[in-house]
Amino acid sequence: MPRDGTTVEKIKSLGKNKSKESFDLLLDYFDNYNLKLDLRREVVSSIGRQDDNERVFNFIKHQAFNSKNPMELIYQMFRTCLYKGKMDKNFYELGEKIRLHYHNEILDKMADYFTYRQNKTKRKKCEITLKPTLLIGDAEKTLKKLPAKSIQMTFTSPPYYNAREYSDYHSYKDYLKKMGAIFKAVNRVLEDGRFFIINISPVITKRPGREFESIRYPIHYDYHKILEEAGFYFIDEIIWIKPEPSVPNRIGGYLQTREPLSYKPNCITESIMIYRKKCNFLLDKNIKDYKKYDRHEDEEIDTNNCWYIAPKSNKNHPAVFPDELCRRILKYYSFENDAILDPFAGSGTLGRVAKSMNRIPIMCELNEKYADLINKGEKGYYDVRR
Ligand SMILES: C[S@@+](CC[C@H](N)C(=O)[O-])C[C@H]1O[C@@H](n2cnc3c(N)ncnc32)[C@H](O)[C@@H]1O
Repeated sequence: MPRDGTTVEKIKSLGKNKSKESFDLLLDYFDNYNLKLDLRREVVSSIGRQDDNERVFNFIKHQAFNSKNPMELIYQMFRTCLYKGKMDKNFYELGEKIRLHYHNEILDKMADYFTYRQNKTKRKKCEITLKPTLLIGDAEKTLKKLPAKSIQMTFTSPPYYNAREYSDYHSYKDYLKKMGAIFKAVNRVLEDGRFFIINISPVITKRPGREFESIRYPIHYDYHKILEEAGFYFIDEIIWIKPEPSVPNRIGGYLQTREPLSYKPNCITESIMIYRKKCNFLLDKNIKDYKKYDRHEDEEIDTNNCWYIAPKSNKNHPAVFPDELCRRILKYYSFENDAILDPFAGSGTLGRVAKSMNRIPIMCELNEKYADLINKGEKGYYDVRR
């Protein structure tokens, strides 16, 4: 029975050896329950590399349904079934049995990924270079003017449901439906694997009278579902924290009465939801598309997901991004020369900051007045389209 001094390298070299003696030794290792899990997983992987398919098959058939074995080992056995199943029907069927038996999402993902790898054609880096563009009109329609997969990052702050002068939807359901349609349009133009980042926070609708309760909508929770349906998956949430004096006062009533249940804290946070366009490859592939880029060597880095940034006001627009928020998002989620989209441009803050950081801004804005201000501010920089 092998004891101390076992290393991943030793196990790997047994895996490469493929002799009967190596196989025997690997089985001994597997039976050693004192061995650390990552080493036992390597043992299963090395057993899977052996040429004696009958022995490999019997090992998996016996061990894959043994409840003493942790799932990490079962996944490795399943992987062997996927690979050997290409040539050998028995392995394919055994893999299907494992999948049915455990019926879990990870096994399904492994099978999907394997199929994708088998059928994949070489993924091409986007070769389209867009000009700085201002699209005036409803983003759901104007985004159709952009080629598919021509954008490398999208950051936006959507219109808040009934919270500001510019939003007007029949119902909250209608609002979500419209946002979902625009998110699908964003998905089409975004390159595979790149980020869609949304700044949002709960909103409140005004009550028609004192006898009614005002309704507060947790928009970001509902956004998750429509983002998934639009072809994105969740990566992170960054909490934007503002100084307390800068936010509306909700705590005043409670501080006067100190009555239980009437507590309403001042909301000093907004959510920055980070999503990635669904694809079957890891982020490394997106990074490898760039031959030359600057690492964030000498800069200050935000090491946690709470960002303290003061809000900004603008005399021409009721809800603008602070430049600093755009700067950090652009720094962490895009490269120089990337095309950066804001489908709800407002006063065009993201475009202005993106330009200053050598990115190519693509802005959409429905409101002619705001679009006009963006255009005038940048004096002919944008290719304006309707
Ligand atoms: C929250 S503001 C964005 C503010 C922006 N982040 C800034 O820094 O100025 C949302 C903007 O979306 C615009 N908008 C609303 N519905 C739209 C639509 N369907 N298509 C394009 N823009 C839209 C509104 O006119 C508004 O200016």
